[in-house]
Amino acid sequence: MVLVSPTVQLAGVLFVLFLVVRYIANIHRHYQQAKALHCEKPASGASGFFGIPAFLRLTRAVHEKRWIDYLTDQFDINGTTFSQRFLTRRLITTIEPENIKAILATQFKDFCDGIFTLDGAGWSHARGMLRPQFARDQVADLSMLDDHISHLIDLIPKDRSAFDIQRLFFLLTLDSATHFLFGESVGCMLPPSETTGVLEKSAVRNAQGFADAFTTAQDYLAARSRAQGLYWLVNPKEFREANRRVHEVVDHYVNVALERKRNPETKQGDGRYIFLEALAAETDNPKMLRDNMLNILLAGRDTTASLLSSTFFYLSQYPNVWNRLRREIVNEFGDVKNPNGEITQTRLKDLKYLRYVLNEVLRLQPPVPVNFRVATKDTSLPVGGGADKRSPVYVHKGQLVAYNVFAMHRRTDYWGKDARLFRPERWEENAKHGWEYLPFNGGPRICLGQQYALTEASYTVVRLMQHFDTVENADPSPRQEPIKNSNLTMMHDRGVPVKLYASEKI
Ligand code: HEM
Repeated sequence: MVLVSPTVQLAGVLFVLFLVVRYIANIHRHYQQAKALHCEKPASGASGFFGIPAFLRLTRAVHEKRWIDYLTDQFDINGTTFSQRFLTRRLITTIEPENIKAILATQFKDFCDGIFTLDGAGWSHARGMLRPQFARDQVADLSMLDDHISHLIDLIPKDRSAFDIQRLFFLLTLDSATHFLFGESVGCMLPPSETTGVLEKSAVRNAQGFADAFTTAQDYLAARSRAQGLYWLVNPKEFREANRRVHEVVDHYVNVALERKRNPETKQGDGRYIFLEALAAETDNPKMLRDNMLNILLAGRDTTASLLSSTFFYLSQYPNVWNRLRREIVNEFGDVKNPNGEITQTRLKDLKYLRYVLNEVLRLQPPVPVNFRVATKDTSLPVGGGADKRSPVYVHKGQLVAYNVFAMHRRTDYWGKDARLFRPERWEENAKHGWEYLPFNGGPRICLGQQYALTEASYTVVRLMQHFDTVENADPSPRQEPIKNSNLTMMHDRGVPVKLYASEKI
């Protein structure tokens, strides 16, 4: 038996007492602050013992590929703002535009840390450095996209056979994003014999290997983020191998940028601002350069691919939308045989119906469906508390607040009884929406790539419609609501199988 001296025993008792008193004092302080802010409790979602059942239900929904639908159903059960415990953390979750506006704009400083994890001075510096990349003339320069879209069209089977268009969009956006941000395309869509760029120099000989490795690495990153503090347990060989492949390619860019910095005469540039070069001007640290590049690649590549994939998911199921859109596009730009003038960003923007279609896709399938912030201080959200849910809700420092854009975009009180239906015409009837429509976020952290993404998606749709007059859904079991995976960015878990061809001779 181990004997503990009375002094140590006393110290132990005093310490436990201290913890209990501190705990009670904290509860009291929060209670007083909540009262001063006129806060009321929000509804409480079913959590069970220590939030274990709630966590298990969510885990099951993730495995059954219905996690976002499951989360959305919770608002029907608990109302538009509620709190729920998941294991160690109590989460407040909301689809109230007023609350989301507070989190992202009016009380911006009270919250931090979204999926792009830089905050404070570091964030505002990084954002400042990225901004010139999105200067109007750079975003409007469609010539950069030209070749990539031609390669995409080359990869589409010409024998009317079915293929997964999502996979091609992921290659397209990787090629175009690397070109736009790093000054040289990774060239995933080129046949191996023509690969002259980064891939040839890297060990990823298979032209599409990099894109696959990037996707695999992200699948595991999403699993790690769900595992919270136990993330390090998710580290299989496949993940490490995918990381190695991705790093190998990205490190090539890092080396090129550092080389150009040392020997400015090797710069190829056409005067365009290249984010990577601006970054390298500030630091020689290769790891920092690599992390920053991966972050921006993640922000830009998957989101746009997701938008394009969902667009074709719907177009292949709604022939009347496809027909009207194609008619308007061909009227304006002609088809591939008889093109009508240069396609410019201004002309793309003037094609109203194209914008309505993209708006409607982003409403029903927002590429970033759920987002989080953490309170940086004791604060409150404007609504959601009390019986009528109109009182403020208290949020203590460190509390996680989730906002679910996917579910908010389907609220019948904002979007009408047919909120779950794909109907681009609703934007013709009413194109004005505030914080209840938020595919690109709002406030100081609003997406920097919004215009670039919309331009790229619009241009891609136009070029494809100029080439092909018919789309067919090739899903063996077509469904109105796609099966989605649970990555940081939403993707179609089973791809988007379509047939795309020219039935008339165009
Ligand atoms: C349809 C396509 C896109 C969607 C739906 C989208 C959506 C978003 C969302 C929701 C955020 C906010 C994340 C947060 O703060 O938690 C964001 C931020 C950001 N996006 Fe996008 N994005 C898209 C395309 C792009 C593209 C193409 C780029 C760049 C090439 C890009 C660059 C960024 C950057 C740099 C941020 C961080 C801004 C900051 O923290 O200050 N995005 N985007």
